[in-house]
Formats: sequence, C-alpha cells, structure tokens
Amino acid sequence: MGNSIPEIVFATNNPHKLEEARAILAGKVKVLSLADINCHDDIPETADTLEGNALIKAHWVKDKYGFDCFADDTGLMVDALNGAPGVYSARYAGEHCSPDDNIALLLSKLEDESNRDARFVTVVALIIDGKEYLFEGEVKGTIALEHCGKSGFGYDPVFVPENSTLSFAEMTPSDKNAISHRGRAMTKLANFLNSR
Ligand code: IMP
Repeated sequence: MGNSIPEIVFATNNPHKLEEARAILAGKVKVLSLADINCHDDIPETADTLEGNALIKAHWVKDKYGFDCFADDTGLMVDALNGAPGVYSARYAGEHCSPDDNIALLLSKLEDESNRDARFVTVVALIIDGKEYLFEGEVKGTIALEHCGKSGFGYDPVFVPENSTLSFAEMTPSDKNAISHRGRAMTKLANFLNSR
C-alpha cells in the first residue's frame, strides 16, 4: 500500500492546457499547475525556438522550485508566410495583443493567398530525475477564410485540421485533443512516463 502517485508540475496556468494534460496523464502522475506551487513568476520566453522556450520554462521551475516539471511551447507555422507566426504566435499582433488581434492580422496577411496550408507544432520539455527529454507533436491543416466556432482558444476559430470540415473551435475538447499538436506531444510524454 501507500503507492502514491508521483506529482509533476506543468509550467502553465492556462486552464485549457491543464485540463487537457490532466485528462491525458490521468492515473500516471498528478499534474500540478504553477499556482499550485505558488509560482507567480512571469517566466521569460526569450528563445527563438519552441524547444528553447519549453526548456527555459521547465528549468525555471526545476531550478527555483525543485519540482520535476514539464513545459510546452507551441507555434502556428503558415506555409505562405514562410513559417510565421511560428515561435512568435502569442504576440503576433504586438506585445499585449488579444487572440482576436492575432487572428485579424493573420487573415489580413492571407487575404489574397490561395495557399492556406499551416501546421501547429508543440514541443514539450520534461525534466525528471535530473534528466531532460523533448517530445514533439504536430497537426497539419489550413487557415479558414473567417472565424468559425467559439470553443478552444488562440487561433482555434481559424484552424481547420486536415481530414476535417470543422475548425478546432467547432470541436469538443476531447475531439480536438485526440488529434491536436499538444495532444500528440502529451501522448508521447504519457507513453514515456508509462514506460519508465
Ligand atoms: P503557447 O506556447 O502554448 O503559449 O502557444 C503560443 C500561442 O500559440 C498561443 O498564445 C496561441 O495563440 C497559440 N496556440 C497554442 N496552442 C493553441 C491551440 O491549441 N489552439 C489555438 N492556438 C494555439
């Protein structure tokens, strides 16, 4: 008895991401948020790659708070924009912009563009037992001509994954998680934690 489930910090306070990670990792680890460990730091995301930012966040928690930890960083790569907004997806329209500002800028840049191919990429960095691991997930799709749907967050209303007629914002969270970039990276993380 007393086989307690290990705790691991997910370096985020985004409720969507926490819910997603807790569902995927249920039964394997107990996922704590930054608020759960009383971390209210504004963790810098100053790298110019997804891997770099995910590692900065994971090391921040490990080094300052001592917890095993994972962190994610995501970018939306649009082919016709040479991979932009990419690692700068969160602040595409400026430092304090809203998701709607980002979407408006994206749609305006693609206004006369017939190639609307894009992909979301997530990198998850894990630090556990003093070692570092990276997991990547990707979903291909296209950028819609206008907003469709109200669920999800970020660019969800304009991202239509391949083999679907619905945008991410028109899907249930579980349908989105089953095929999403982050869902795929988190599943790799879950399989890794399972196999240890
Ligand atoms: P982050 O690294 O996960 O914070 O992602 C950076 C930015 O990418 C976010 O601010 C969102 O604009 C966008 N993003 C990340 N994941 C998703 C998603 O699942 N759907 C839509 N947009 C996302």
